[in-house]
Amino acid sequence: MKRFYITTPLYYVNDKPHIGTAYSTVMADVLNRYHRLFGEETLFLTGTDEHGQKCQQAAEKRQMAPQAHCDDMVKNFKAAWQELDIKYDIFFRTTDDFHKKAVQAVLDDLWQKGDIYEDTYEGWYCVSEEIFYTEKELVDGKSPTGKEVQRITEKNYFFKMSKYQQPLIDHIEQHPNFIKPESRKNEVLGFLRQPLGDLCISRPKTRLSWGIEIPFDRDYVTYVWFDALLNYATGVGFQQPARSAEFQKWWKETGAVHLIGKDIITTHAVYWTTMLMAAGAPLPKTIFAHGWILNKDNAKMSKSVGEVINPLDIKSLVGVDAFRYFLVRDIHFGNDAPFSKDLVVGRINTDLANNLGNLLSRSANLIGKYFDGKAPAGSGDDPATRKIIHLAGETASKVQADIERLAPSYALEHVVALLNEANRFLEETAPWKKAKEDVAAAGNSLYTAIECLRIAAILLSPVMPTKMADLLDRLGQSQPNFELAKKWGVIPAGAAIAKGDPLFPRIETAGE
Ligand code: MSP
Repeated sequence: MKRFYITTPLYYVNDKPHIGTAYSTVMADVLNRYHRLFGEETLFLTGTDEHGQKCQQAAEKRQMAPQAHCDDMVKNFKAAWQELDIKYDIFFRTTDDFHKKAVQAVLDDLWQKGDIYEDTYEGWYCVSEEIFYTEKELVDGKSPTGKEVQRITEKNYFFKMSKYQQPLIDHIEQHPNFIKPESRKNEVLGFLRQPLGDLCISRPKTRLSWGIEIPFDRDYVTYVWFDALLNYATGVGFQQPARSAEFQKWWKETGAVHLIGKDIITTHAVYWTTMLMAAGAPLPKTIFAHGWILNKDNAKMSKSVGEVINPLDIKSLVGVDAFRYFLVRDIHFGNDAPFSKDLVVGRINTDLANNLGNLLSRSANLIGKYFDGKAPAGSGDDPATRKIIHLAGETASKVQADIERLAPSYALEHVVALLNEANRFLEETAPWKKAKEDVAAAGNSLYTAIECLRIAAILLSPVMPTKMADLLDRLGQSQPNFELAKKWGVIPAGAAIAKGDPLFPRIETAGE
């Protein structure tokens, strides 16, 4: 059986879930559900990044012990993901004991191999990013993203990242799907044209105590990124002899797809991959960096700049399924995209209330009126019907191909195209007129429409699980089944077709 292992970044617990973290998580959930629909065995890992200075400071601000602060914040994440209908398999917390032990085992291993060494560090440190910068990397005395930095001199431990520079370049060049999209791959290769330094992977406890202790020097804790990145592998058994079969299955044989935002591409494509090389473990299959959700001023939507939209407010406005649909449909995966309530409402009204919703209400109403609420028979033997049957027959495989190449917005376009065609077909064949003179022809039109809806419901079910289950139910169908999305004529003539309330009521906002 084919397998699929997908991860999101582990989110910092100094903040509540926001539109950016919701975006990464919804997209991972959607991709994961698609792969499950295709019949694959899937694993979906998300979680929280709980160590480090940011978390320690956030806990201090609340006058709480760091662990209590983390436990509290984790509740927000779990609750938000539940509200957004996210079905993860593993909620990973970096403060879990098994992870701490596994991280220490990796540190010991690299220390013994000589890939970790001791040295005095002198340079610039950015607290909010928890990243060290060389003089050259600073821009106007600040981090490349404009954050404050401070001068630091201290003894530390270093990972020999530089040793793996060439092997990493080779790997990227030999594996075209390793870093996606292409623009991000070029960015990483560009970064690797400069000599790669070594990575400081320790923090003296005098400065930061909230972290995983370095096993060979108890006065230090591990750099939070060194700890957090390892989750993707420790989460499936890395450095845990009792879980070696799981590690073999998910890490070595399946290979992870890491979904991340483009702001954390270097830590993933460079730190993480060289760490794995040193640890002698295979690299992930793909690192996919998505773009940013932008605010009105075309800047990354974040608390520090301008207006931030709470994902749960949007959910309350349009419903969870419609919100998920917007994220998948309107944002070409990998690109930045604007976000506003009006954009969401506009898209929902066009695609769901009008296109899909009208097709359903028209066909269900007419079936109610002229066919006693029972599916009519579809003859399918005229050219117009044959054309639409042909299009419907191709849709499932087109969707699958686009999901597999991590292009979910394009996958949805195929379904939208099918629904458009079905609406046009209904318009042209006008069963509301035909019903009086040629019942069989009217029946054929309506049958064609509900079959298109059935196929669309299956193919959209990973994006809108609840609404599409409802739609299938109205068509007398049970669980979404991908094999049935490739077939025509599945709804038997005579099956009860329920009218129900509008599936996606049109949303009127004050601004409209
Ligand atoms: N803790 C690290 C990741 C460690 S992974 C081992 C981290 N956490 S985070 O809480 O800052 O999560 C950031 C995730 O949310 C990133 O993928 C980031 O790109 C995403 N977003 C944050 N704001 C965003 C937008 N406005 N738009 C889209 N995603 C952005 O980084």
